[in-house]
Amino acid sequence: TALADKITVTPMTDEQAPVIARHIYGQFSEHLGRGIYDGVWVGEDSNIANTRGIRNDVVAALKAIQVPVIRWPGGCFADEYHWRDGIGPRQQRPVRKNNWWGGTPEDNAFGTHEFFDFVEQIGADAYVSVNVASSTPTQMREWIEYMTSTGQDTLANERRSNGREQPFGVPFIGIGNESWGCGGNMTPEYYSNLYRRWAAFFHKNGSNFHQQNDNKALRVASGANNLDTNWTKVVMEQAGHGMDAISLHFYTLWTGDWPKRNEAAATEFNQDHWFEILYQASRMEEVLQAHEKVMDKIDPDKRIGLYVDEWGTWYNTEPGTNPGHLYQQNTLRDALVAAISLNIFHQHADRVRMANIAQTVNVLQAMLLTEGAAMAKTPSYYVFKMHLPFHDAKLLPLRYTSPQLTAPSGKFAAISLSAALPKEGGVVISLANSELTQQHELSVNLGDLQLTNVSGEILTADSLDAHNLPGKPETVSPSHFTGATLDNGNLTVNLPAKSVVVLRVR
Ligand code: AHR
Repeated sequence: TALADKITVTPMTDEQAPVIARHIYGQFSEHLGRGIYDGVWVGEDSNIANTRGIRNDVVAALKAIQVPVIRWPGGCFADEYHWRDGIGPRQQRPVRKNNWWGGTPEDNAFGTHEFFDFVEQIGADAYVSVNVASSTPTQMREWIEYMTSTGQDTLANERRSNGREQPFGVPFIGIGNESWGCGGNMTPEYYSNLYRRWAAFFHKNGSNFHQQNDNKALRVASGANNLDTNWTKVVMEQAGHGMDAISLHFYTLWTGDWPKRNEAAATEFNQDHWFEILYQASRMEEVLQAHEKVMDKIDPDKRIGLYVDEWGTWYNTEPGTNPGHLYQQNTLRDALVAAISLNIFHQHADRVRMANIAQTVNVLQAMLLTEGAAMAKTPSYYVFKMHLPFHDAKLLPLRYTSPQLTAPSGKFAAISLSAALPKEGGVVISLANSELTQQHELSVNLGDLQLTNVSGEILTADSLDAHNLPGKPETVSPSHFTGATLDNGNLTVNLPAKSVVVLRVR
């Protein structure tokens, strides 16, 4: 390995720096392929160990990464979902065609009560997406009342007769999904009008006449895709007063071009594909900047959050699987995508207060892959685990200049970095090196912070597409990192190529 210049990193202590909301580490779980069925729900009679039908291995793995929030039931599925299909005795629930995802029969075994059982077993917050495009405000209002009412009304009593005395906790509700596309092919003007209409029947506690209402959820407007800032602008201008957040979807795709997403494989890719995907992931920075610029003009006080409620890699599906089920492998490259994206979210924590990787189990950039009773933790999962100290930690801005790498579509930083001050004290630093062979030496001056000890973990592997398979010994998992030393407040890190490192300095 040729010697490279040392990279000097300067922490910019800033009292005003934002707290990195733990909800940035959120998940998205849609009724899609084996995401819910198999991945989460196996049913009470399954041979796979479960609690009331929900897989114990999946719950334990998600608890271990302290999943803060799960978005459900879609995605595109949400705008075709009727909540009444998923309550009451399971054998009486209707079977619908899942038109978006392979035409697969949806037997509605996993509905409202099962979803809340799942999030409560994990200890996560619920983020429920309601149907706007093929439903009515009445359906939304009734579902909200069913979930949240504490009164003696018929809907609350129906919930009770279905086994749930106390209301469900619903901190976040999304009003529509991708309303510009699968959620109704709307213009932003049309969606804004619908949003205003839906918001009128939301009856949020504390708004207008609703001081005593049971519904305390934050209202999330369906947001833009990629660089469509006009959507954000129009919806913010025309409906911003009635929302608490607006969403944004940004997927990492081969050449950034939606129709070409199937031209990239999740494994067995060449070096160009390594660089291109990591370059595309790093574009999250320009995408956030573009939307924030629009939001800052309309909402300079940053009342409205930007929730990146779908993000992650989208490759061709695995050979032999249903193309409508979006099942893809997850490699060391995805771990780098996760670290790069999370490091970017940290820098934008003043506006980006939630993000939900797509999707939790068996779909797109998953945390977990299952096959029968076996389960694998993916490299992306391990990045989420290594990043635990960032949850609700105060951002510590850094100044540094990274060497650049060249991908087919553009240049990007070889080194991705972020740091924060966790509540328990000390500093946490995440570092990702996208180089194929070049290690880099970084020097971080932490002199002012009176720290004496550094420890860390590294995620790397020999091959670029190293991955873990359900039921097989792991190829990629974090190990003890020995490449960092702390001398008189000066931290020196030898950051190996194709690796993610997280350091705790105390
Ligand atoms: O995550 C898969 C799909 O991607 C979602 O259903 C949709 O919102 C997006 O287009």
